[in-house]
Amino acid sequence: MKKLVIAPSILAADFSDLKSAIDHCNNSDCTWLHLDIMDQQFVPNLSFGPDVVKDIRKHSDLFFDVHLMVSNPFDMLDSFIDAGADGISFHIEATESRFTFPPKILINKIKRANILCGIAIKPKTGFKIIQKYMEFIDYVVVMSVEPGFAGQKFISESIDKIKEIRSFIDEKNLTDQVSIQCDGGIKLHNAKDVMNAGANILVAGSEVFQSENPIDTINKMNQL
Ligand code: DX5
Ligand code: ZN
Repeated sequence: MKKLVIAPSILAADFSDLKSAIDHCNNSDCTWLHLDIMDQQFVPNLSFGPDVVKDIRKHSDLFFDVHLMVSNPFDMLDSFIDAGADGISFHIEATESRFTFPPKILINKIKRANILCGIAIKPKTGFKIIQKYMEFIDYVVVMSVEPGFAGQKFISESIDKIKEIRSFIDEKNLTDQVSIQCDGGIKLHNAKDVMNAGANILVAGSEVFQSENPIDTINKMNQL
């Protein structure tokens, strides 16, 4: 199994003091930063765009994990690649419309930029629909809340989905190639269950940024 990665999501940070949130991450044991992009179409919320990512890039050398919760991910790839993304995940549900590009086109474009590619699935989307792309991607994002907001409750059925994906990855000998990221509602008290189910990238928003000491919270999660 790959090494555990903690990816704090700055969506849960105080945006009037974003620099402190970034510095907490820089000064902790985490190696990734999770950046949630929302367009108020794919999800009922708006977050921030590539210019903000570009500005944050000047203040951090962490791995920038861009999670696109947008209805037309293809059109946004170039700007987030230019802004300094090290990995980009898009939602499979956003590629189902006949007006958008098929997943393979997005995967190829992301991989051609020499960055990691992830495919995200919402809580009600089954793993089967992305199975055929597994050998071409670097990580699966299992959404353990409905995408759109930080601070929601972890959907416990996600554990079984992670186990199913972990079995598939290991059976197909993709263990060294494909990671499982779990995103939403992860706290210190349930992180171990998520890991034991087979996830190796844990996104944590409110648990980190609403805690008294974000650095300590990140480091504690990293030690689990
Ligand atoms: C939800 C986002 C998550 C979220 C995580 O749509 O994709 O990354 O910010 O925040 P918590 O950990 O508070 O659920
Ligand atoms: Zn996210």
